[in-house]
Amino acid sequence: MNKEKIHQELEKERLYGSGEPDLSAIYLGKDALAKAPEIKGIPTGVEGLDDLFFIVITEKGQTTKKSLGGIPAYSVLNITGVSDTGKSLLVEQFTVKQASRGERVAFITVESPANFLALSLKLRAEAMGLDFSIFENNIIIIDVASSGRLRDNLPDLLSTLSHVIQNYKVKFTIIDSITGLFETKEMLARMVVRRLFNFMKKWYQTALFVSQKRTAHEELTAEAAGGYAVGHIVDGTMILAKDLIDTPYKAKLYRKEIGEIVRLFRIDGCRLCGHDTRTHFLEITETGLVVIKEPIMFKKR
Ligand SMILES: Nc1ncnc2c1ncn2[C@@H]1O[C@H](COP(=O)(O)OP(=O)(O)O)[C@@H](O)[C@H]1O
Ligand SMILES: [Mg+2]
Repeated sequence: MNKEKIHQELEKERLYGSGEPDLSAIYLGKDALAKAPEIKGIPTGVEGLDDLFFIVITEKGQTTKKSLGGIPAYSVLNITGVSDTGKSLLVEQFTVKQASRGERVAFITVESPANFLALSLKLRAEAMGLDFSIFENNIIIIDVASSGRLRDNLPDLLSTLSHVIQNYKVKFTIIDSITGLFETKEMLARMVVRRLFNFMKKWYQTALFVSQKRTAHEELTAEAAGGYAVGHIVDGTMILAKDLIDTPYKAKLYRKEIGEIVRLFRIDGCRLCGHDTRTHFLEITETGLVVIKEPIMFKKR
């Protein structure tokens, strides 16, 4: 090849790349939109949460906010926070709510063995005033806590889940927690989460992934350990936090007494719809139900 020809080849590669194009990855806007699911809300069974998600509609030139009445269908959301902040209670309430509506839920339990989870779900149902026996079989538990094979082998776990989704016509998937799936291999966290996320999308699941933050560092952001890998991959994040009232400043800010614990909640982004961006008080009732309360008011001077 002469110099001229080499130069031409190099220029061609620079312009067109040297790989094979994947034509199946190309969509016209119209065709992609035709495949888009309708934006609708899924009621969560968590008091105070459903109206924090909304869409903006334009009618006759007027734009108005309309509550979705739940989390957006087909979204994959990350529920994060340090231990004992109410993450498990929240996803259990969500599971019970869907099952009571006649929907099938796959619950991948990584920390708590199936029998303990089932008991907890029953207690959640009772606290919600529902008869668990009526819909208990709408919940299909995949017990990873008791299966070392599924914990360490993502392909086997995904095959188990696709079997469950197909056989039981499952539309909702819960994983408590994804952190437990990459405990000893933090390096792989992003890859694991991305594969799980893509899998949920492929099977049209509305999914909640619990992830554990290890430190209270940057309490209300999704960025602390556990959050890093997940936040950018999923559709949105809900952050649960708790704080000890140990200074007069905090006592005044939260209007609580020194020595009390204050629980907080915030939606940290959702790319499928509009959402409330304020920090809210969160309460866990005596019967073990998560309730989202009023937003924290910072007094204007
Ligand atoms: N009846 C109840 N059942 C379970 N947890 C309860 C109950 N009442 C209060 N709680 C509180 O809920 C918290 C457990 O929340 P959980 O969802 O397990 O936390 P996480 O999954 O974030 O670690 C505990 O700190 C406990 O104090
Ligand atoms: Mg938990």
